[in-house]
Amino acid sequence: MESVEEVVVERVIASAPAKVNLALRVGSVRDDGFHPLDTVFEALDLFDDVTATHADDLSMDIAGLGTDLPCDESNLVLRAARLLQQATGTTRGAHLSVTKRIPVAGGMAGGSADAAATLVALNTLWELGLSGEQLLEVGAELGSDVPFSLLGSIARGTSRGEKLESIKPGAMHGWVLLTNPVGLSTPAVFRKFDDLSLEAGQPASTEELCQAVQGNDLCKIGQLLINDLEAPAFALRPDLAEIVVALQTVGHGVVLSGSGPTIAVLCEISQLESLGSELANAFPELSVVSAVGPAAGAHIKQQN
Ligand code: C5P
Repeated sequence: MESVEEVVVERVIASAPAKVNLALRVGSVRDDGFHPLDTVFEALDLFDDVTATHADDLSMDIAGLGTDLPCDESNLVLRAARLLQQATGTTRGAHLSVTKRIPVAGGMAGGSADAAATLVALNTLWELGLSGEQLLEVGAELGSDVPFSLLGSIARGTSRGEKLESIKPGAMHGWVLLTNPVGLSTPAVFRKFDDLSLEAGQPASTEELCQAVQGNDLCKIGQLLINDLEAPAFALRPDLAEIVVALQTVGHGVVLSGSGPTIAVLCEISQLESLGSELANAFPELSVVSAVGPAAGAHIKQQN
């Protein structure tokens, strides 16, 4: 009888996408310190990669952007690996190498993408066999945006952003992203939101925007782009308000991404090149990145 050799997975590369929020409606702070949200996430084809290989313990390194970030247990990558060990009881270790392309502290869920890619990579490397649903549950414990980084495409997020409902995406479209060299702290922006909006109550609804996405109406989507964190982010960083005002008539619409400071301009894919160079010339102090959405959630890019 022929012997069947077991193929051991030695190295897994997983990718996870950046996100923008087409709408981010925020309510009054809850008892647990989080804010109730009604948001529409979109994943973009700007990916961080996590390469996982076997090791005795857990360790990590970072290449690309964010090489000054800590590579200790405070990093969401190691927290994701540690939580997966605890959730499954495995004692296996791994080395995790992150290649960062998503701007750091940019409001584009770069840290959440790294956590999502780590979960997907280790699920395969350690042969854990967790379902997509189980990974979403583990992801929600790590951060409000991690479940969406796993899911990708376009989805409505409620509760603190971790409860997701997929929206049927229309045609692909372009985004010109203006990333800022100085990041913004998400907790600081939410705290400023509390100072400015004492009676915010429940978040406003994103229903109309969800319908525009399903109806594939890019002009309407552009008109409905909205972010309740713009006021607090602009209070902390008046330079961002000036950029958004200057971009009012550009593309289909402009919005601050998440808690900022990245500013996102919605456009047709055919406009990406000309709009990208126009904005790079107009804002030499910012980095201009072109992206297309919607894109896939965290997935295996390569394994052997
Ligand atoms: O969930 P995550 O760890 O990404 O959140 C980071 C911080 O952002 C929280 O500690 C909280 O200050 C703020 N936040 C919030 N309400 C949310 C999501 C995040 O206040 N729905």
